[in-house]
Amino acid sequence: MKLIFASSNKNKFIEVEKIIPKNIKLGNLIELNFFDEIPEDQDTIEGNASFKAKFIHSKFNINVFADDTGLEVQALKGKPGVHSARFAGRECDSEKNITKLLKELKNIKNRKARFKTIIALVLNEKFYQFEGIINGEILLCKKGNNGFGYDSVFKPDGYKKSFAELSIDIKNKISHRALAVNKLIEFIRKVKS
Ligand code: IMP
Repeated sequence: MKLIFASSNKNKFIEVEKIIPKNIKLGNLIELNFFDEIPEDQDTIEGNASFKAKFIHSKFNINVFADDTGLEVQALKGKPGVHSARFAGRECDSEKNITKLLKELKNIKNRKARFKTIIALVLNEKFYQFEGIINGEILLCKKGNNGFGYDSVFKPDGYKKSFAELSIDIKNKISHRALAVNKLIEFIRKVKS
C-alpha cells in the first residue's frame, strides 16, 4: 500500500519513516511536485490535521495522512496548543517560540505540559483520526541538540532528559507522534486483513 505523508517538515518525516513498516510505501509531497505551504489556520489541532490531509487528497486524489502537533502547557491554560508553530508571531522560529515560552513560565512552579499529535487519514475516500499524547514538563532552560521545535525544553515523564537529549529511537518509542502513528499502522493492518 502507498500512503502520502503530507508534511514538508523533514524532522517529522524522518521520525515517521522510521516507524512505518516496509509494507506501507511512504510517499512525500515532493514526488507530487507540491512545494507550497498547506494552510494551518484552523482553531484546533484536529482541524488543522484534517484540513491538511483533505487538502492534499482533494488536489491529488490519493491516500494520504497529515500530522498536526501542539504543545499544551497546563499553567498557560493549554497554550500555545494549536498556535505552537507561531507562538511568538507569524514570522517566528523555534528559537523565538522557546524564548517566549520560557519567559511566560518564568517563576511559575507548575511546569506540566503535554504534546498532542493528531494524525488525519484519508483512505479510500474515508476519513479517520488518531491521537497521541505524551505528558511531561517544561525545563527551566534548553537542553540537548537532537530533535526539533520544542524538544530541547520538553522532558517526558519518567525520563531525566529532554527530548533533544534522547536519541530519535527513544523519542520514537514514547512520543506523541509515535503513539498516533502506531495507531494508524494498527488500523491499516486491520483494514488489510
Ligand atoms: P506543526 O504540527 O508542524 O504545526 O507544529 C507545531 C509546532 O510544534 C511547531 O513549532 C513545531 O516545531 C512544534 N513541534 C511539532 N512536533 C514537535 C515535536 O515532536 N517536538 C517538538 N516540537 C514539535
